[in-house]
Amino acid sequence: EASSQDPSSASSASSEWVTIATENELREKGRKTALVSGRKITVFCRDGGFYALDFHCYHAGGPLDVGNIEDINGVSCVVCPWHKYKISLATGEGFYQAVDPQNPRQAPCWRSKGVKQRTHSVEVRDGTVYVKLSTSSAKHESDFYYSKEYQQLMGLN
Ligand code: FES
Repeated sequence: EASSQDPSSASSASSEWVTIATENELREKGRKTALVSGRKITVFCRDGGFYALDFHCYHAGGPLDVGNIEDINGVSCVVCPWHKYKISLATGEGFYQAVDPQNPRQAPCWRSKGVKQRTHSVEVRDGTVYVKLSTSSAKHESDFYYSKEYQQLMGLN
């Protein structure tokens, strides 16, 4: 039965999977923000795919869940509402417009700054969308907004 495949079941090895929304709800609304084990993340639906990222923009903590989605060189990116940084939904890479100082008349082109925003795993099973937090030990700039240091800075702790 469908329920036996529920990846949020505590009895399975995949107990870290957390229910976010129904697939229909996310397809309709395009995005949803949720707390997963105390971490605020946003799940986006774009062109039929689902992507989960840290809610707070790596630059200065802006709320990505109200950012527009744009294609940058064929890559779907969320545009942070605060300072318009572009972040790949799929990889968390930041993009910037590079200018060649040797050739200032050439139009700027988009380049990657590398992965800046932590992304998380998303799965859709039986019409439900689940997220599992990334456990990568690689440091991501967006991690700062989930640190004790930031919580204290904001008077949240
Ligand atoms: Fe996101 Fe500055 S906080 S671009």
